[in-house]
Amino acid sequence: MKVLVLNGPNLGRLGTREPAVYGATTHADLVALCEETGRELGVEVEVRQTDFEGEMLGWLHGAADEGTPVVLNAGAWTHYSIAVRDACAQLTAPLVEVHISNVHKREEFRHHSVLSAVADGVIVGLGVQGYALALRWICRDSVAAGS
Ligand code: DQA
Repeated sequence: MKVLVLNGPNLGRLGTREPAVYGATTHADLVALCEETGRELGVEVEVRQTDFEGEMLGWLHGAADEGTPVVLNAGAWTHYSIAVRDACAQLTAPLVEVHISNVHKREEFRHHSVLSAVADGVIVGLGVQGYALALRWICRDSVAAGS
């Protein structure tokens, strides 16, 4: 099995971006964490990041066509992009929405996600460990089955 971890705008700047909010972990560290978790779970994990909405839509369309599970942190698109939501709605395999920060403790405009209604689950505020938890949930059956 392959799992895609897709990160949206500004997440490539983790580590230098508002460290008080997002922590010191860089995007490269996040890639390493996800790949290491994938190795532990026996699944291939591919992490991508883009600041371009059309590129994200293309990745989601590919995941829909291939039946690939997705862990998605859509960054600010979470709060307003109906296009990203419509692409997520086409996915057939599990989708977990992840946010590093606890968006509910932050500004009002971050409290609503247009994606959550089309996600299987949401992990918020647990830092980059949220990605590892999302991967573990997605892979729970294949690990239990030993495949
Ligand atoms: C974020 C929260 C969003 O509100 C913000 O725009 C981001 C990151 C998070 O991971 O906490 O870019 O998705």
